[in-house]
Amino acid sequence: MQRIKINDIFNPALIGQEVSVMGWVRTRRGNKHVQFVALNDGSTIRNIQIVFDMEKFSDADLKAITTGSSLHVLGRLVESQGKGQTCEVQADSFRVFGTADPEEYPLQKKGHTLEFLREKAHLRPRTNTFGAVLRVRSALAFAVHKFFQERGFFYLNTPLITASDCEGAGAMFQVTTMDLNNLPRLEDGKVDFSADFFGKPTALTVSGQLEGELGATALGAIYTFGPTFRAENSNTPRHLAEFWMIEPEVAFFDIADNMDLAEDFIKYCVRYALDNCRDDLEFLQQMYDKDLISRLESSIREQFVRLTYTEGVEILRNSGKKFEFPVEWGTDLQSEHERYLVEEHFKRPVILTDYPKEIKAFYMKLNDDGKTVRAMDVLFPQIGEIIGGSEREADYEKLLARIEELNIPMKDMWWYLDTRKYGTVPHAGFGLGFERLVLFVTGMTNIRDVIPFPRTPNNAEF
Ligand code: 4AD
Ligand code: MG
Repeated sequence: MQRIKINDIFNPALIGQEVSVMGWVRTRRGNKHVQFVALNDGSTIRNIQIVFDMEKFSDADLKAITTGSSLHVLGRLVESQGKGQTCEVQADSFRVFGTADPEEYPLQKKGHTLEFLREKAHLRPRTNTFGAVLRVRSALAFAVHKFFQERGFFYLNTPLITASDCEGAGAMFQVTTMDLNNLPRLEDGKVDFSADFFGKPTALTVSGQLEGELGATALGAIYTFGPTFRAENSNTPRHLAEFWMIEPEVAFFDIADNMDLAEDFIKYCVRYALDNCRDDLEFLQQMYDKDLISRLESSIREQFVRLTYTEGVEILRNSGKKFEFPVEWGTDLQSEHERYLVEEHFKRPVILTDYPKEIKAFYMKLNDDGKTVRAMDVLFPQIGEIIGGSEREADYEKLLARIEELNIPMKDMWWYLDTRKYGTVPHAGFGLGFERLVLFVTGMTNIRDVIPFPRTPNNAEF
């Protein structure tokens, strides 16, 4: 008989039919007349209740059915007697695929802390919480592709191994095949990278943007969606060393078009989760965040506030609030500043634009004031910065001047400059940190809990 997934079983039309279900045992309880097993197969947050009539089975038969064991049950789907369940399976026969020793199985009990579960990252997908988060994450990934594909954007795969540092922050993971205990040296004692795999120093990418611009100035509109690596030693609830980023890049776009796209994009993803992940969001709301669904709904209803960095700094300086890091025009905003603007001042998402050029990357378009660039950061409640982007400097001479000013080696940049040399066009784009979106949508508070296998300083076990 064909297996039915638990997500498909709660269907009145199936009542009375023989079914075959498979899954992992969440709990077993009961008495000498009847035993109840809650079975979950990952297809939904909901468990199916399996009822064992102890006239047909013995205690010895059921001995191996313990929390965490895996089971195949054949039986009849019947309307449920118990409250809260619509149907259950009356078992006729069963088979245990694999046992889980109750003395050893780490997820024996309910209610483990998220910290404990981080130490058990290899098994935590089997919990309700991580099942819900991972299903929402998957749905959001699908929404990302759907949004861009419906709008005629092309999915571009940019390289993970690169010789250039897009963001100029220098926080890159080096990639090499050289023997670190026996490095070839030049006469001056420096490492001879001509002997390395690529014949020069390379690293894991911090962003696909530069190559994304090559795609956008050919295909018109592209998006990337891939892993991104940053070796910054920031142990915060919002930073990962390996995260996923979505980077759309569009030719003939200015900063206003870019802001519209960013706002539509986030709202589309949030709405998709509300429409398609209701059970999981309700579970997460009940367990972790009682305002979750209303916050998601208000985020798609409201217009994001748009203002300049300069205006934002004014508001912060006049706020009368004592910040840990003082605010002054020219300094980068800290998470506490971003969250003040969003959570306390405006009480909705904010897009800040036109930052001082000194605190932003080299590729951003210079404004006429000569001091600020056409940058945009989208700031979200609970999260802070969720998107960073800009209109790009399309003028060859100005871009070259900026690259020279910052001492970026031309050997890394000549190919990028060619986009401005041959048929340059105004264009813009942004990067959305996928895990930050998943954080917002699930209401989780630590980014380590929204990626299956987090990579952070000193943590690459699973
Ligand atoms: O602001 P960032 O550094 O911008 C860029 O990389 C641009 N090249 C994007 C573009 O214009 N195409 O990063 C973009 C977003 C941030 O807003 C944040 O959401 C996320 O990426 N992000 C991180 N997420 C998790 N862990 C980290 N260490 C992150 N660093 C950035
Ligand atoms: Mg940024």
